[in-house]
Amino acid sequence: MKVLVTGGCGYIGAHTIVDLINNGFDVVSVDSNIRSTTQLLDGIEKITGKKVRNYKVDLCNLEDTHAVFHENRDIVGVIHFAALKTVPESVADPLLYFHNNLTSLVNVLKCVKEFNIPNLVFSSSCSVYGNTKALPVVEETPIGEAQSPYARTKQMGEQIIEDYSHVNDTQSIILRYFNPVGAHPSGLIGELPLGKPDNLVPVITQTAIGKIPKMTVFGSDYDTRDGSCVRDYIHVTDIAAAHTKALQYLLDHKNESNCEIFNLGTGNGVTVLEAILAFEKISGVKLNYVMGPRRPGDVIAIYANNSKAKEKLGWLPQIGIEDCMRTAWQWEVSLRNKVLSN
Ligand SMILES: NC(=O)c1ccc[n+]([C@@H]2O[C@H](COP(=O)([O-])OP(=O)(O)OC[C@H]3O[C@@H](n4cnc5c(N)ncnc54)[C@H](O)[C@@H]3O)[C@@H](O)[C@H]2O)c1
Repeated sequence: MKVLVTGGCGYIGAHTIVDLINNGFDVVSVDSNIRSTTQLLDGIEKITGKKVRNYKVDLCNLEDTHAVFHENRDIVGVIHFAALKTVPESVADPLLYFHNNLTSLVNVLKCVKEFNIPNLVFSSSCSVYGNTKALPVVEETPIGEAQSPYARTKQMGEQIIEDYSHVNDTQSIILRYFNPVGAHPSGLIGELPLGKPDNLVPVITQTAIGKIPKMTVFGSDYDTRDGSCVRDYIHVTDIAAAHTKALQYLLDHKNESNCEIFNLGTGNGVTVLEAILAFEKISGVKLNYVMGPRRPGDVIAIYANNSKAKEKLGWLPQIGIEDCMRTAWQWEVSLRNKVLSN
């Protein structure tokens, strides 16, 4: 059974491709490489022994997207990861985010409809909940005010899929990720931000290795146990496994409606300072960081109630914060070793 993965050269897409292949699926990827290279495809091949084809296509281009679907009419589903994901960048350039994230989604849906693709899985984010006080969040927690244009593209993306699902036969699952971190235990694939990273864990590992001289923790006066933001850090291979399970759930017709939503988090809230401590403990490296002002677009605290995904998808996150940091650090070190050996 063949699956089309958009954004397959990216961080979560690449880990999910490995999980899909390990569970017997064939995969093709569509990725314009606007925020990636093909490096992770080499890692996927080393891990799985399978070479994955990537169509270097911008999904905002309907004609090119259509051509990919036309060539792959036998797919059983689409997992749509491709999007821009950087909160501060979206605050600075909202139109870039609305154009890229929404046009690509609409084009994918147009092709899904035309080629009668039965199943769709969409990458959403806990950012759709905004600054909610009701923690941990359940899927029914009301959508809050978006704190960034990025978050708004996820809210709108979910709405577009829900409206589409009301009048079409496609079965959809929306997965709301909390904070995906870490890397594949092989050390062969991991997060590979182009340019300066904005997510906490690559900032930590790049600071520890010396690529970033000093890191800033944004906000020390939030109403949390140590003043820094609280997040639910979930290992990327746990996130990846949930996609295979979600697709299988749809293939087995276990869904109760045309569009279902699942939270993907561990259920544990960890502060930024606690995450730094966990990193220092597993790596033995003292991080050079300073406390700075709050960053526009950041929510204060969020963590998941993940009961629905556990019960219905049979998914169980396996990896805790220290192993998240350990695999992320192993990946950063392997990147440095690769540079040194070239
Ligand atoms: N990483 C996180 O912290 C996080 C959290 C919640 C949700 N998400 C969502 O998960 C998805 C995957 O995130 P990721 O961390 O793997 O990001 P990533 O940047 O590593 O991967 C996204 C990939 O999509 C590609 N892409 C973007 N726009 C495209 C377009 N128009 N056409 C073709 N390819 C395009 C990029 O080149 C990139 O390779 C995104 O939708 C993101 O918003 C990520």
